[in-house]
Order: sequence, then structure tokens, then C-alpha cells
Amino acid sequence: MSSAEPLERILVVDFGAQYAQLIARRVREAHVYSEIVPRTMPLADMLALHPAGIILSGGPASVHVNAAPSLDPAIYEAGVPVLGICYGAQLVAQQLGADVRQTGGGEYGRTELAHLVPSLLFGEQRPKFVWMSHGDAIMSPPEGFTVTASTPGAPVAAFEDRDRAIYGVQFHPEVAHTERGQEILKRFLFEVCGCRPTWTNTSIIEQAVGEIRAQVGSERVICGLSGGVDSAVAAALVHKAIGDQLTCVFVDHGMLRVGEAEQVEETFLRQFQVDLVHVKAADRFLGALDDVIEPERKRKIIGEMFIRVFEETAADLSDAGFLVQGTLYPDIVESGGGDNATIKTHHNVGGLPDDMRFDLVEPLRHLFKDEVRAVGEELGLPEEIVWRQPFPGPGLAVRIIGTITPERLEILRQADAIVVDEIRRAGLYREIWQSFAVLPAVRTVGVMGDGRTYEYPIIIRAVTSEDAMTADWARIPHDVLERMSSRIINEVPGVNRVAYDITSKPPGTIEWE
Ligand code: XMP
Repeated sequence: MSSAEPLERILVVDFGAQYAQLIARRVREAHVYSEIVPRTMPLADMLALHPAGIILSGGPASVHVNAAPSLDPAIYEAGVPVLGICYGAQLVAQQLGADVRQTGGGEYGRTELAHLVPSLLFGEQRPKFVWMSHGDAIMSPPEGFTVTASTPGAPVAAFEDRDRAIYGVQFHPEVAHTERGQEILKRFLFEVCGCRPTWTNTSIIEQAVGEIRAQVGSERVICGLSGGVDSAVAAALVHKAIGDQLTCVFVDHGMLRVGEAEQVEETFLRQFQVDLVHVKAADRFLGALDDVIEPERKRKIIGEMFIRVFEETAADLSDAGFLVQGTLYPDIVESGGGDNATIKTHHNVGGLPDDMRFDLVEPLRHLFKDEVRAVGEELGLPEEIVWRQPFPGPGLAVRIIGTITPERLEILRQADAIVVDEIRRAGLYREIWQSFAVLPAVRTVGVMGDGRTYEYPIIIRAVTSEDAMTADWARIPHDVLERMSSRIINEVPGVNRVAYDITSKPPGTIEWE
């Protein structure tokens, strides 16, 4: 990291990815920088990062299984405050000689906590109900520790040794169901570790700007814009750092939604005054998609042509040595990298050919999605981009079932704009993962005025989801659906029927193709 690096960082040792990421996010919400490290990282490497404190995450294992995930016990002698959570607490207890037992009982969900003595972690306003999820239980504290709270199934639900600054909680302070859970984490950060709340949008931006400048020097940089939040924030950060050394390339494949291309121009060309190359390639893409029906062929044709067009444009910018990539922190953690892994520089640009010799600039690689949005707002990007729902790379092509024609694109575009508009008006846009229209390849009979019609239906698709891996159909109020239906029929020529897709994923997918 650069000289703008925050002074204080908390390491979250990963004993189970989903728990570790949530803890790391909570720490950052308290404005302290946190980093997830694999539990296999040697202690010396962890200490070399000069952590202000170390949090051991929960995880699915039991300390009793063979090869249970463990740590170098010298961590407890390193003079760095430690907080063990759930599995992390059991590990601390076991490594320091306490009795951790498979009781056969376990506790799952909301559990009442009995406070035994005052605790530095809990302070004055102690939580009554906490969230538990454990099979094993710590039966007695390690030597020198005080038991500060217990529950029916966890005799040692919280323990601490203030002198050594080692703490353990059997419950999960990082989940919303634990009362005052964030307060507990904050007390660890501020009272125990002595951190200051310096990780803010301003410091994130300053740090990113410093790193980008140090990395690219006076070289030219290219950034592909998609209209989505990640590439937009990455571009805005790089532009703040190096101004007109940056050229953004926006390939319009003609299958974007109403206003999307205009928004990119408005924001980057006029508001930020970025050097923007807007490649209007709709005719080329539509030509290549003529009569193509099969969804995977559509994807392949669009993907390949996208690369070709980008490459042609980049060839005109042959002096550029760097390419901006909107990689986020979870991508890095999930690929097993941790923040300290060397990022591959030439091969993780989805689909770009090997002979494009760019080094990558990844200004979002330390950030979670919510931080990316906050930074985007701070940089002055419009709300429509910062909070945009995910949109597939092939765009409307995978929402038009069957052949893609300019006429059918126009029908879908208009219907889609109405769906999104009504979702926004109902105040549902941010809570719904994706909401859009689909145009199937059938026509149905209807009656309008005095006449029989034979036209397309529009399917409304709206889902809630955490990560797009699973999804549920959104329970949109009937009056909102009614407004969508009546507006689509009245305002979009060529449509005489509207249906709402009530399929979850699985068995359906979010997109129709
Ligand atoms: P499905 O339809 O598989 O979609 O449930 C899961 C998520 O991925 C998006 N999606 C795509 N994104 N290229 C993309 O960049 C694609 O070809 C593609 N297909 C689906 C979809 O919008 C949803 O967010």
C-alpha cells in the first residue's frame, strides 16, 4: 500500500468465508480498515502487517475434528489484542488449555445471555439477546481469564483477560440479530485496540488516488465503461487520480436500455470531462445476431464481438500501458488471495486476449460493494449509476426470446423503462435485486377497442436476492403491477398482454435466457 495507508488495521482471520467477510464489513462500518487473511498465513506475516487487533472468525468446523483449523499459539503472546468469535473463541479457549466439549446440545438462534461480571466488551448497556450457532461449548475458562457471560448451553459464552487483551464470545456480534452487536465490536476496536475511526470515504478516496498515481506514473490508462456501478466508480477514481491520462471506452452494442448510453455520456463526458470514446456498434452487433435464436450462441457472438471492438479501439490508444478493472475485495478474498496475494496482471480481464499487454489497475480491490457505492456518491456519480441493479453483459439480447430485431428491441426497451420507472416510483428499486421486462417469442390474442389483436405479451420479472446464486420472485404490491400492466398496454405499441413471472431460482434463472 501507499503512504496514504491508514495507520490502523484489523486482521480478520478466516475460518469460514461468509463469517469473515461479514465481520470485516462490520469493522469497516465502524470506520476502521480491516483485511481478511487466510488462517494458513504464518503468524510472522500477520504481525508484519502491524495489526491493531486480530479477530478470529467463526467457521463450520469443530475444534475436535482431525486437522481442525488452528493457529500458531504464539499469537496469544504477540502483544496484539485478540477477539475470538464462535469457532474463534473455542479455538482461543482450547489453545490456552480450557475444556471445549461436544455437549450434544448446541444452541442455534436467539439466546438469552446472563451477564456475570462487568466486561470491557459489553460496557454499561449489555445485550440481553444474542445470536448463537454452535454445537461445541466452552465448559470452563482458560487460566487467568474471567467468564463474563453465560447461557444455558454455553457455560462460557464470553470470557476475557484484560491484561493480555484477549477476548472471546461464543455468539455472533457481527449479525444484526445480536442486540448491540456492533457496539461490542466497536468496544473491541476502540476500547481494547485503541483504534481511531479514520477509514472514511474521504480516506478511501485519498488512499486509492495515491496508489493509482504511484502505480501508473505518467503512463496512459484505458478503462472500459459498462454503465454499471463498478466500472463507473473505478473510472471516476482513476480520473480523479490522473485526469486526462485516462481514456474511457464505452462500447454500445445496441442492446442497452432506455437512457443508458446517454447517461454514460452525460456523466463522464460532460460532468467529469473524461476523454471518452463512445463506440456506437449497434449495427455490427445486430448484423452478427441476425436470425440467431439459441441463447448461448447469442452470448458467444456478443462476447467475441465485444472483445474485437474493444481491441480495435484500444489499438488506436496503443501507448496505453494500463487497463482499469473493477475487481472488488470479495472477488480477491474468494479467489483465495487475501489482500496480500499478487494479483495476476495479464489474465484476469474476462476474455481479453493474452497479447494485449496491459498491466491492471484495480482501484476497488480493497473495497466491498457498499463501500464502492459510498465512494461513488462521494465522487459525485449520479444515483442512477451508483445504485443501478445488475444488468447482464449481453444486455437485452438475453431478454428477447428468439430473434433480435430493431422492432422487438424497441418494444422491450419501452416496456422495460415502464417496469423500472414504476419500481422506482414505488420506492422499491434498491430493495429489489433486479426488475425488468422480458419479450417472449409468441403472440397471443386480445381485444382492444372493437377489434381483435394478435400481439406480443410482456413478462415482468422482479426478484429479490443476496448474490444472484438463488433468488425469489419479489412480492410487488398488486397496485404497482397493475400500473405497470396498464401503462405497458397503453404506451407500448405491439403489446396486448402482461404477465408476472412467479418463479424462484432455482428452478428458474433470473434471466429468461
Ligand atoms: P441467471 O439468469 O443465471 O443470472 O440467474 C444470474 C445473474 O447473472 C446475470 N447474467 C449475466 N451477466 N453476462 C453477464 O454479465 C451474462 O451472459 C449473464 N447472464 C446472466 C443476471 O442478470 C443475474 O444478475
